[in-house]
Amino acid sequence: MSFWLEDYLGQALEEIAQKGLSRSLKSLDGIPGPTAFWHGQEIVLLSSNSYLGLHAHSHVIKAAQEALAHYGTGTGASRLISGNLALHEELERKLARFKGYPAAILFSTGYMANLGLITSLAQGPQDLIISDQLNHASIIDACRLSSAARAIYRHKDLEHLKQILSQSQQYARHWIITEGVFSMDGDLAPLPGICKLAEEYGALVLIDDAHGFGVLGKEGRGTVEHFGLEDKIPLQIGTLSKTLGNLGGYVVGTERLVDYLRHKARSFIYSTAPPPSILAGSLAALALIESQPQLRQQLWARVNYFRQALLELGFDLMDSQGHIIPILVGELEKTSAFAQGLLEQGVYTPAIRPPTVPEGKCRLRISLMATHTSAQLERALLALKNVGQCLRII
Ligand SMILES: Cc1ncc(COP(=O)(O)O)c(C=O)c1O
Repeated sequence: MSFWLEDYLGQALEEIAQKGLSRSLKSLDGIPGPTAFWHGQEIVLLSSNSYLGLHAHSHVIKAAQEALAHYGTGTGASRLISGNLALHEELERKLARFKGYPAAILFSTGYMANLGLITSLAQGPQDLIISDQLNHASIIDACRLSSAARAIYRHKDLEHLKQILSQSQQYARHWIITEGVFSMDGDLAPLPGICKLAEEYGALVLIDDAHGFGVLGKEGRGTVEHFGLEDKIPLQIGTLSKTLGNLGGYVVGTERLVDYLRHKARSFIYSTAPPPSILAGSLAALALIESQPQLRQQLWARVNYFRQALLELGFDLMDSQGHIIPILVGELEKTSAFAQGLLEQGVYTPAIRPPTVPEGKCRLRISLMATHTSAQLERALLALKNVGQCLRII
């Protein structure tokens, strides 16, 4: 029997390799961040989204272990069948309260939260989704899966957004979707301007605040709190996989919205309920975010110091403003060489390349953690300086 599959795959992979875009996995050992082990060598990790280091916090690990012992590893069914535990409902209640909304609904990942929400809300010829050009792949995929019409506005360009809104009044519903903190550029959405336009044109603003949660705002409630726009945003999407240090996604909004999603969101209905250890770990992490604001202060002290040092070295940090710090390199080969050179000096921050970012905009994406020590940051800065100079990036 002759199968053509292997040839087909081989050809596709060869094309990717010829463009220099092959991807491979790095096998790390130990708790990943702020350091990890790679081939037995301890390396400084500058790529974790567990910004407060909560995935490694003793309270979080203990809570997850206890839930594992009490409930076992998995839920064995979707929430609507028999996978629903009191822990799911407790986490939904506490997330909703923390974010300042009446209700919340959990998904197995943030990716699935975007798929479930967007495809079930914007679902017909009367709907227009208007999406920022640099939104995360999960938002892009959700827009593609939705049967609504789509328009893309240039990154953070309010004039362009206004133009689209003013030229699309034939639609009954307009959904503007943006990230709060952009995951690869580290800049903030111009939320006050977006909300003003939304009000003017009767559109609804959806925010994926995966990276603002626990980091931005006085209480760590995210980008909306940072801008003081709590009464302007009817719902938000988030993830348990970044600052909460676990895995899972959620949507917060009204009771009616959550009820609607339980009926309509296919990625909620047709997927096994998130496991208990993740729920208990997330609950413990949320309690720490609320009770230990010093963790956020520690993160910001490190971010401000590191960002200033990188600017003094002469790196181009794009328009980034906070805890996600891109170093723009541009060319693909040079960016890969930069990441490889750093790894050889014991610092891991992967190269970000197309299709994750546009061609010619390759970069390193640095993310810091509250738990990085001064010695680790100095080691990283020295390596960035040495390799950056060697490759004439600075
Ligand atoms: C903005 C944004 N939304 C959604 C996701 C997906 O979240 P998860 O990793 O929980 O699937 C990510 C993850 O990278 C993200 O950056």
